[in-house]
Amino acid sequence: MSALSGKDILSTEQISDDELSLILSTAARYEKALTAKMRLDVMTGQILATLFFEPSTRTRLSFEAAMERLGGQVISVADPKTSSAAKGESLADSVRTVAGYADVIVIRHPQQGAAAESARASDVPVINAGDGTGQHPTQALLDIYTIQKEKGRLKGLTVSLVGDLKNGRTVHSLVHLLARFGARMHFVAPPGLEMPPQIVSALREQRVTVTESSDLATAVRESDVLYVTRIQRERFEDPADYERLKSSYVVDMALVQRAKSGITIMHPLPRVDEIAVGVDSYEGAAYFRQAANGVPIRMALLALITGRK
Ligand code: NCD
Repeated sequence: MSALSGKDILSTEQISDDELSLILSTAARYEKALTAKMRLDVMTGQILATLFFEPSTRTRLSFEAAMERLGGQVISVADPKTSSAAKGESLADSVRTVAGYADVIVIRHPQQGAAAESARASDVPVINAGDGTGQHPTQALLDIYTIQKEKGRLKGLTVSLVGDLKNGRTVHSLVHLLARFGARMHFVAPPGLEMPPQIVSALREQRVTVTESSDLATAVRESDVLYVTRIQRERFEDPADYERLKSSYVVDMALVQRAKSGITIMHPLPRVDEIAVGVDSYEGAAYFRQAANGVPIRMALLALITGRK
């Protein structure tokens, strides 16, 4: 049984260095097994429940694929509008009930803190698949795994993060992992969508070099990785603000040609218009490979926290 057995995955700060390296090495092993088309029975007899109260394609399907690839089974609420949440049931009561049906729960919810609240109500491990504008730790784990694969290393990189850094939960999780490897970070956001100041100051306290600007062309000239995010339309109170800011940054081939040679371009997806389709054929465009890496990372997490590996 691993050190992660029985643990919830709620935020990236909570994951120790040893746990992180165990997750990455376990994922690499599962990726090899997937490539070799091996049949795995690590999770035979185990049930994963996926509770998604917000839209998702990649996160839910890659968790479900991960569980199936490990020989386990999945139950899920097809549409939260048809679950008892629609009758006014509290989140804690719903989760407590589902914990009686499953061995592990993955939850996505519009409210920050909802995954932590679920973990308190559950006696089986809970994985945060995105809690509002809070965190998305499993995305950050697959992002780090992707950087390691694409760059061949994690130490000493310069990473530019662009887009809706205020509301984007993927970057809120990712920066804490990047910081451990001594990454220098450039935050590039439209006015009003900057990285929350408490995250910037926490990074500076850890002596991470962070610059904040609105100048993407300059940032990419010295970056090994460019991490692009979507302007999070669903988080805007006033649609006019979204309309004003929506196309602030568009990464196209003209920008890529002015960037540091060999730059890796990442995006958690879905994209709207922030990366031009013409960039997809650039060899450093890693976002679809990144999405595929969600399966081995989530296989590792499921097996480790249920004590199966
Ligand atoms: C992200 C999310 O849901 O936070 N998507 C994902 O899980 N890959 C990013 C986004 O929606 O912009």
